[in-house]
Amino acid sequence: MATSFTPREIVSELDRYIVGQRAAKRAVAIALRNRWRRQNCPPELRDEITPKNIILIGPTGVGKTEIARRLAKLAQAPFVKVEASKFTEVGYVGRDVDYMIRDLVESAIQLVRSEETEKVRTRARDGAEDRLVEVLSSSNSPGFFRPTSGESKDRLRERLRAGTLDDEMVEIEVADSGFPTFRGMTPHGFEEINLSEMFGGMNLPFGMGKKGKKRKMRVKEALTALTTEEAGKLVDSARGQRDAVPRAAQGGIVFIDAMDKIAGREGSHGPDVSREGVQRDILPIVEGSTVTTKYGPVSTDHMLFIAAGAFHVSKPSDLIPELQGRFPIRVELEPLTQDDFVRILTEPQNSLIRQYRALLAAEGVTLEFEESSVREIARIAQEVNDRAQNIGARRLHTILEKLLEEVSFDAAELVDKTVLIDAAFVKKQLASVVADEDLSRYIL
Ligand SMILES: Nc1ncnc2c1ncn2[C@@H]1O[C@H](COP(=O)(O)OP(=O)(O)OP(=O)(O)O)[C@@H](O)[C@H]1O
Ligand SMILES: [Mg+2]
Repeated sequence: MATSFTPREIVSELDRYIVGQRAAKRAVAIALRNRWRRQNCPPELRDEITPKNIILIGPTGVGKTEIARRLAKLAQAPFVKVEASKFTEVGYVGRDVDYMIRDLVESAIQLVRSEETEKVRTRARDGAEDRLVEVLSSSNSPGFFRPTSGESKDRLRERLRAGTLDDEMVEIEVADSGFPTFRGMTPHGFEEINLSEMFGGMNLPFGMGKKGKKRKMRVKEALTALTTEEAGKLVDSARGQRDAVPRAAQGGIVFIDAMDKIAGREGSHGPDVSREGVQRDILPIVEGSTVTTKYGPVSTDHMLFIAAGAFHVSKPSDLIPELQGRFPIRVELEPLTQDDFVRILTEPQNSLIRQYRALLAAEGVTLEFEESSVREIARIAQEVNDRAQNIGARRLHTILEKLLEEVSFDAAELVDKTVLIDAAFVKKQLASVVADEDLSRYIL
């Protein structure tokens, strides 16, 4: 279950998405590796070894959440993110904090389900093709696809695979999974409730329920819909429920954000006396306890907890001692520099520049970023961060959006399909906004 990546491999995997923050990456890499090590320990010790939880300390927008998320993805671990400060809100005080563990189990269910779906994908696709070819070969109503006379099913399948039928219309019968879900009170607390579960596949009015429903759609969408439906038949859904609990217990990662907001002792922060209370509520979960979920009891003993916060005002030492002991690893994340911004814009696989290029490529527009433009964007980001509030890499989002506003709007009608973004372009688009301090507070 635990991935066998070495810490070095984990860090280099994280490097593909996150720039810098070496200390934080190393800490989470060790934590993940320790899971694998634990599983290779003699059984009598295995149960004694508890995870060394981590506090990530750093200002906003420097990669705390991103590191935790990427780590979970890499480890294929169930992941949940909660805001510690949420528990201090009115209506939450003294309320059950167990729901984060229930959400974690839900996340495990999703994970197992999507892995199972992945396993049956080829078979589901074949089944969907069979059904669609069947429909296509006998389709003859006006307004829908019609095969040329004598066209064989094999030929139709070839055309389907080649994608030449994608835009044709068909009518297919798909099970309607349009069950509404809502959050409501269950015996386990506040949870997502799905009507189909409540009514256990009964026939419901208004076309809800498992009954098939004729729907008109494009071939391409029909193939997707049918593949999903076939996959649903092939996956072992009991498996999701069976595997999810151990998966969450052994591999789950709980990210507790805004931990600094609940640090601070009773009375030391005026009216906000609930902070210590919240810490005491969270403590048993972090220390290890058993939480009841609708899929069965789940132990939190071996879950990994990663807390995060700026800790500008309060310090980790303001947490109650028991909690401090449960988070022995503290790492600081560095504020991002202008050079970091240049790298963040260009290096990660999902970098913003790649994202915008892909978005506009969908319109047939090629965005060319010259190196000078990237440096200029980074410089402006730094300047605005220094002058207004430092929101870290998030500043790049607001700046790029403003920078490309015109291109984004006009993309569909552009005659010249290549747009060169150089330093001059950046200055032209942003100079007036950057120069006007008040304006930049609103826009950038
Ligand atoms: N070091 C980094 N490398 C690459 N991208 C980054 C880095 N830091 C932040 N980002 C990007 O900035 C955005 C915000 O980052 P993230 O959510 O990790 O911030 P955070 O540290 O959790 O902040 P907060 O304290 O406000 O929750 C994300 O889109 C993320 O990809
Ligand atoms: Mg965050």
